[in-house]
Amino acid sequence: MGVFLLPTEPIASLDHHLATETGGLGVQAAQRVGPQATIELITRSGLRGRGGGGFPTGRKWSGIAGQVGSRRYLVCNGAEGEPGTFKDRALLRANPYQLVEGVIIAAFAIGADEAYICLKRRFEHEAALVTRAVQEMQSAGICTDCTVNIVLGPDEYLFGEEKAMLEVIEGKPPLPRWFPPYEHGLFATGPQEGWEAGPRRARGGSDGSNPTLVNNVETLANVPHILARGAEWFRSMGTAESPGTIVTTVVGDVVAPDVGEVELGTPLAAVIDAVGSGVRSGRTVKAVFSGVANPVLTGAQLDTPVSYEGFAAAGSGMGSAGFIVYDDTACMVDAAYRLSRFLSIESCGQCPPCKLGSGAITEHLERIETGAGDDEDVAEIERWLRRVTDGSRCYLATEEREVVSSVLRAFPQEFVDHLEQRRCPQVEPRPIPKLIDLEGGHATYDESFWRKRPDWTFDP
Ligand SMILES: Cc1cc2nc3c(=O)[nH]c(=O)nc-3n(C[C@H](O)[C@H](O)[C@H](O)COP(=O)(O)O)c2cc1C
Ligand code: SF4
Repeated sequence: MGVFLLPTEPIASLDHHLATETGGLGVQAAQRVGPQATIELITRSGLRGRGGGGFPTGRKWSGIAGQVGSRRYLVCNGAEGEPGTFKDRALLRANPYQLVEGVIIAAFAIGADEAYICLKRRFEHEAALVTRAVQEMQSAGICTDCTVNIVLGPDEYLFGEEKAMLEVIEGKPPLPRWFPPYEHGLFATGPQEGWEAGPRRARGGSDGSNPTLVNNVETLANVPHILARGAEWFRSMGTAESPGTIVTTVVGDVVAPDVGEVELGTPLAAVIDAVGSGVRSGRTVKAVFSGVANPVLTGAQLDTPVSYEGFAAAGSGMGSAGFIVYDDTACMVDAAYRLSRFLSIESCGQCPPCKLGSGAITEHLERIETGAGDDEDVAEIERWLRRVTDGSRCYLATEEREVVSSVLRAFPQEFVDHLEQRRCPQVEPRPIPKLIDLEGGHATYDESFWRKRPDWTFDP
């Protein structure tokens, strides 16, 4: 199912890509109008980052292009670690060439010295597709004066966090550094070089801050289409504040989990039906999480438009539009426990309130879920929720606060039932949807995650 980003048949060669309606035209248009006009066009289109935050892409590009006297880098974020999200891998499988075109255009627009496309090491198939696409485009002379590197990173959730991703590119573990990439970019020699102290490494006589643009795969995949067809064409889809389409993933208690492209502004209920084939007969939607980064939406909020402003008005966030659906047989205390456990395991521990708080919240949720909890467990969760984000370097701690506090707010009766009955009233726990594959209506989750320990080693 696609509008323009997801072709019905995969694009398997450069010739095939160039034979499509707009294949190769985006790079040509950018080279014709020049960097400044390219950035202005992306700004006018209203494209917003698809990695979760929805930051205006043109504004990000012009901020980096405007910094003088430095080397600049481009990083394409293809870590896709958010539970319930598979859209970047679906895009790479469907057409890796449109992404590489987007990378070439973005690097040209901001004057980047080099570009890095980052994927997880475990995404072997997608890495092979994108490597071939880069090689074919280089041999065809489409990308001659640009260096595109492919970096394969670890499986950790934090690899996708942009400050941690820069550390990984520099050969270090995925521990978020302090400053954002536009202030303290790749190989920067500014005030703080990441977790490990090291020698100062001035490169190329720059001022050392090396502002770095980080954009998500889907964000960059949109770029060649906008260059080829114009800002007005892009704005003719979606809403005024969220133009274009969005590639969504729908998993959980649905008939056929899948990835699909819809216009922004489509109601959530219609997205669950169109992309995931709806919930099973006789069942109703109890809750929908957009990844693990935003407050839960309840079954009463399914008319929420899938757009940045639509989710914000509903008190949540669209994230990367990976929707995890729970039907009326699911236990929301168990859901909160499993999502909290995911975040506490993946927390890196550089900020003690994040690691200790998410760990404590997870333990109290487990006690309540298994019937061993009492009022003091709820009170402890609430105390930690007020402190878990103290001094946090990255957004993960806020995710913990938002997800758990929203479940407490939206489903208080489920907590009361667990405390009173001293057991979980539901029978079937749902696994955490950390996706390994999603094909033909079937989702494969990472079974090994259950064995992952807080120090990122695994139980045998
Ligand atoms: C814990 C954590 C994990 C993240 N994982 C991803 C990811 O897998 N892919 C991604 O594109 N962005 C991820 N992000 C967001 C990135 O930090 C960054 O905002 C994004 O790549 C920017 O691209 P955009 O402007 O195109 O949205 C993550 C953020 C956090 C806090
Ligand atoms: S907020 Fe949590 S995950 Fe982020 S850097 Fe601090 S400890 Fe690590």
